[in-house]
Amino acid sequence: GQGHVLASLLEKHPRVRGVLLDLPGVVAKADPRLRDGGPLADRAGIVPGDCREAIPVDADLYIIKNILEWDDESTRRTLRNVRGAARPGARVVIIENLVDDSPSMKFTTAMDLLLLLNVGGAKHTKESLVSRMTEAGLVVGEIRPVNAYLHAFECTVPE
Ligand SMILES: C[S@@+](CC[C@H](N)C(=O)[O-])C[C@H]1O[C@@H](n2cnc3c(N)ncnc32)[C@H](O)[C@@H]1O
Repeated sequence: GQGHVLASLLEKHPRVRGVLLDLPGVVAKADPRLRDGGPLADRAGIVPGDCREAIPVDADLYIIKNILEWDDESTRRTLRNVRGAARPGARVVIIENLVDDSPSMKFTTAMDLLLLLNVGGAKHTKESLVSRMTEAGLVVGEIRPVNAYLHAFECTVPE
């Protein structure tokens, strides 16, 4: 996206550095706090790129939020690229809406249909996401709700 999550994290944690990766047209309009002249620019990097091709970022923690919702091959490639970029021991947190039996189901089902019709994609169940992550070689740890709509899957890259 345009880096609102990253900017919030950098504001809250003054010693953290972070990199935003999204498509070129999207990062061109990144949050002004992250861009040259912005108050967080010295701790922020902006990388225009396609996460299905490569994720050229070396980090301790990768946050993948509301992206793994297109066709399965794109999801698989993206997770493989995270796994390829990340050092052993790095953490990967995947944040998604789930097709589950929670009160957010109406919202997720609407998004699921929208994605299917527009990009041939889908929202996931907890099981289908865990299976994609495991296939990519990530070790899935705790899975917990972030709020009424989102779940976070905490993964690590094996040593
Ligand atoms: C639903 S938005 C989520 C944005 C942000 N992560 C958030 O949670 O607010 C999906 C994002 O994925 C980005 N995206 C789509 N295809 C991409 C690709 N191949 N490589 C990198 N980013 C991509 C879109 O530009 C968009 O910003």
